[in-house]
Amino acid sequence: MAEDLSIIKGDKEAQYVSLIPQIKALLEGETDLVANLANIAAALKEQFGWFWVGFYWVKNDELVLGPFQGPVACTRIRKRRGVCGTSWAEAKTLIVPDVEKFPGHIACSSLSKSEIVVPIIRNGEVLGVLDVDASELDQFDEVDQRYLEEIVKLVSGEW
Ligand code: SME
Repeated sequence: MAEDLSIIKGDKEAQYVSLIPQIKALLEGETDLVANLANIAAALKEQFGWFWVGFYWVKNDELVLGPFQGPVACTRIRKRRGVCGTSWAEAKTLIVPDVEKFPGHIACSSLSKSEIVVPIIRNGEVLGVLDVDASELDQFDEVDQRYLEEIVKLVSGEW
């Protein structure tokens, strides 16, 4: 496993195309979930420089904070609460261009302005979510959705 990433500039799609094989290489041969989630969060943060990148995992019917990169964050989120709890309840990716316009958004930091939350699904069950926050408005679109959904499949085992 290579422990350093090759970071490229260029358009967003090219950045994902460069990053995904590197994430696959980081995960190869490693079965520990926390180790793999930690490296995915770090790789995404390093390539894209987003404000906050991390995972929440379903435990006892709550989302509990998992590996992340960025400022400290809320530790527990209930189902249907905030963007994360809604993504979990609906088992679908949510793109929020302006977090202040999302009813019930949980503001872990006032610096977060836009967000994408991708559920991690195995056999129809949501195991957790990947949450990415940006400090500017409207930073996420279908390109992020497509590639982040591909990335989380690497930990759900459903790729
Ligand atoms: N904003 C999220 C909470 C998690 S933090 O952004 C890290 C939400 O509304 O679910």
